[in-house]
Amino acid sequence: MRFALFFLLLSPAFLSSLAAQPTNDEKQTAPPLMGWSSWNTYRVNISDELIKKQADALVQTGLKKAGYTYINIDDGFFGHRDSTGRMHTHPVRFPHGLKEVADHIHALGLKAGIYSDAGSNTCGSIWDNDTHGVGAGLYGHESLDARLYFNEWGFDFIKIDYCGAGQELDLEEERRYSEICRTIREVAERPVSVNICRWAFPGTWAAGMARSWRISPDIRPEWASVKSIIRKNLYLSAYAGNGHYNDMDMLEIGRGLTPVEEETHFGMWCIMSSPLLIGCDLTTIPEASLRLLKNKELIALNQDRLGLQAHVALHQGEGYVLVKDVEQLQGRTRAVALYNPSDTVCRFRVPLEILELEGKAKVRDVVRQQSLSPIEGTLCMEVPPHGVRILRMEGEGRSEPSLYEAEQAYLPCFDDLGKSPKTVAYAPMPGTSGGMKIAYVGGSRENYAEWNRVYSQQGGRYDLTVAYIPGKYRKLQIEVNDGEPILIDRLCETAEGTDVTARVTVSVQLKAGYNTIRMGSPYCWAPDIDCFRLKRTSD
Ligand code: GLA
Repeated sequence: MRFALFFLLLSPAFLSSLAAQPTNDEKQTAPPLMGWSSWNTYRVNISDELIKKQADALVQTGLKKAGYTYINIDDGFFGHRDSTGRMHTHPVRFPHGLKEVADHIHALGLKAGIYSDAGSNTCGSIWDNDTHGVGAGLYGHESLDARLYFNEWGFDFIKIDYCGAGQELDLEEERRYSEICRTIREVAERPVSVNICRWAFPGTWAAGMARSWRISPDIRPEWASVKSIIRKNLYLSAYAGNGHYNDMDMLEIGRGLTPVEEETHFGMWCIMSSPLLIGCDLTTIPEASLRLLKNKELIALNQDRLGLQAHVALHQGEGYVLVKDVEQLQGRTRAVALYNPSDTVCRFRVPLEILELEGKAKVRDVVRQQSLSPIEGTLCMEVPPHGVRILRMEGEGRSEPSLYEAEQAYLPCFDDLGKSPKTVAYAPMPGTSGGMKIAYVGGSRENYAEWNRVYSQQGGRYDLTVAYIPGKYRKLQIEVNDGEPILIDRLCETAEGTDVTARVTVSVQLKAGYNTIRMGSPYCWAPDIDCFRLKRTSD
């Protein structure tokens, strides 16, 4: 009897019933925005009739019912500022102003989005010869514009570009966006969703003021563009969460990619929890593209209640395996992407333990909405060039993770603005696990790497082994859950044989549930870090 109870307690079903209890960020978070935006197809050539037709089409195509609820007017509506500074709409494109357009959108049960620039001039005035965009930006007109756009016209969303602020005024991003967002919070009489458009990951401050922030230059309806945006987002999952998202830019579905590329584009935007803003002409959208955009199971991964972005669990050959929890943290169901950016077939062989799934796993192809045969041991699949398989997998149990890659870490000082050559960064390095390391960690108290979802089922003592790239004059300080820092000041200066990494092990105490581990060095550079592993030693 005692034996039976013992085995019952060890069974995967029992252990997974101990899965992490809901935490703050597991409670319903605002999901990524879904809707349509005018830029990709029309650039500045928009009008009131055009926007209203697209809004009507969003309803008629069933896209509203599928969850797409925003109609965002991008650059091109500006007319001129009068002597009081008040903005007027374009005399030909929007002769009756924007309020009646926003009213039309709202009457359909949708939400309305608008666009501006953090500087004086819009991007359209620089790149599309739209002279009406000169002086149309928010710079110096923050309160006036906020009152007009949100309180008078009734917009619910704003995308704030940076052409005028960056190229022309050379303003500092964090300060400039803080000023604008503070004004919007003070002035707007309705909730306003803000998108920061700086064409690169702007910095961790963005999450404190915006729902989403662009991480890349403008998307184009070409595979090379889709692939480079996915590449940029592969190691940014630590910055998404709690209702704030990395924005991979508007969708190019229905604009000439091949069917396989469209699946990859939409599938990856879904599993990486990017906002989903359709960018094609909805009145002529091809049937297959429309069906893809309405795929309920893919949308469910994007709008999942946990609001997580999938992270890279394995880089195999040219392919990447991405994974995220859905529905429940540390539960038995996970969303998985087998992504092949290359120009030849990828043959994936993924041990289930990498996905932290135990026993026989049920497999559902989310793109095709088909259940596949359950698998045990290793998931084997071929993925065509530029393709992806997006799967929903359910194991009999969930195992405790033991490997934490450096490229999954949250780096509080990270940005991708390229303004300083020695900022903390995710960098490719052959011979490391996952082919990536983090570089330029340390040198100050603030510049550390943090893993805040280090999970222990029962808590206890663990050996923590760090794989690092040896270098001269490095120290490594490790902190677990704000405990006493462990300082390692005798690190190897060279690796052995053909290894590119060296290892050091310390003993740490983890509590049951999620733990936070920080690594850095307040005194000097820490070594570049490849990954760390955990091995339970006792209770
Ligand atoms: C920038 C943005 C685009 C679009 C244009 C408008 O290029 O990144 O998404 O808004 O400006 O001019």
